[in-house]
Amino acid sequence: MVSDIFQAYHLAGVKLKNRILRSATHEGLGDEKGFPLPQLAKKYVSLAKGGVGAIITGEMIVQGNGGSSYYGDLKIDRDESIESYRKLVDAVHAYQTPIFAQLTHCGRQTRSKVTGQKPVAPSAIRDKHYNEEIPKELSEAEIEEIIGNFVAAIIRARAAGFDGVQLHAAHGYLLSQFLSPYMNRRVDKWGGSLENRFRIIQEIFGRATAMVGDYPIIIKINAYDGRKNGMRLEEAVKIARMLQNCGCAAIEISCGIREDNFLTMKNASNPVEAVFHYSFKCQNIPIFLKPILKRSLQKRFAPTPPVRLYNVSAAQTIKAAVSVPVIVVGGIRALGEIEDIITNHKADLVSLSRPFILEPTLVKKFKNGTQTEAKCISCCHCALGIEEGPLRCYFGRLSSDQQAVRSQTTQRPLTTTH
Ligand SMILES: Cc1cc2nc3c(=O)[nH]c(=O)nc-3n(C[C@H](O)[C@H](O)[C@H](O)COP(=O)(O)O)c2cc1C
Repeated sequence: MVSDIFQAYHLAGVKLKNRILRSATHEGLGDEKGFPLPQLAKKYVSLAKGGVGAIITGEMIVQGNGGSSYYGDLKIDRDESIESYRKLVDAVHAYQTPIFAQLTHCGRQTRSKVTGQKPVAPSAIRDKHYNEEIPKELSEAEIEEIIGNFVAAIIRARAAGFDGVQLHAAHGYLLSQFLSPYMNRRVDKWGGSLENRFRIIQEIFGRATAMVGDYPIIIKINAYDGRKNGMRLEEAVKIARMLQNCGCAAIEISCGIREDNFLTMKNASNPVEAVFHYSFKCQNIPIFLKPILKRSLQKRFAPTPPVRLYNVSAAQTIKAAVSVPVIVVGGIRALGEIEDIITNHKADLVSLSRPFILEPTLVKKFKNGTQTEAKCISCCHCALGIEEGPLRCYFGRLSSDQQAVRSQTTQRPLTTTH
């Protein structure tokens, strides 16, 4: 059944080259306005040549106060961006590869020191990871503005030629904050019952569909997180049904929020040295405190098995409840694993992130039979390095070469607000 994996798959009218997608991965290749740098097109062309079924871009920010804490955000917050995204899309389409724009507002999971704007959230609850400031609770007018900006971004993505968009409603970003009772404590029509917590997404779908018809809108959601009163599978199943009713074209199943450390992208080894090296939180620690902190972080970042296939059973449960295609992401590394997921109908499609950073031609290798397993070691240094510079694979090392990368990239391009 390996052949099924490599056959074209039709998703809401879009012909995917095969069933193995590149999951959204922040590349840090936005310029000072958040428009894609030419290096991003090069990266995506490598992925397209390397045989991925489709590319989901790294997060693209829809509104000024929704920026991330990472280096080099992409932004799609103004019409002026359309032309540069069109060039990016054309470069990928030259290799018959579809590309979806991932649309994001980071909500409270960010830092005003980076974005220049106070973080906002459904409720004014401090994020225990960022921990520097209490986000501003959104007013109803501000929620309406955000809905409008998601819809405007969808219209821009279509104008730029993207084959569809993906709403980022996973990993503790704004839409995921609304869905989760842990982060959404509102008592108005945007909080409380599941219907109310889902309302912002329903409004985006409803208003976007009125503008762009059957243009494919897919979504990434959490099946669960590690928070008390957070997202649980039973609710994720209900959300999937509600998404189906909204006309959602596919649902990607992920997990975890930023406070959960590496639950979203499980680490196979302890990344504590890299946490010390890259995280803004460890930059100004007095020398005498470092050994104590390191010991406590060693425990906190210890790998939590399973580090492979950790969303597959949740995806399978969700797939059984809906007819809309389900994509599963998280710790998928081997051709045999993909074969099992697809042939046993655990999900319709799979997506991978970290393996493609090291091996953009991985799908081709799987297809040619030259390799059956990704070389990625799930060290997660890539996820830490994006705080300071463009995305790269570190392969578990902190070398002097990487020190040089740090010093070259301390000038963030993230200075404009809009
Ligand atoms: C460096 C890095 C950047 C990421 N950026 C995004 C992003 O922009 N949007 C998103 O939805 N997920 C993002 N993710 C999460 C991945 O898409 C994926 O859900 C997670 O890494 C698990 O998949 P994997 O085991 O194949 O890496 C990122 C992950 C990494 C490691």
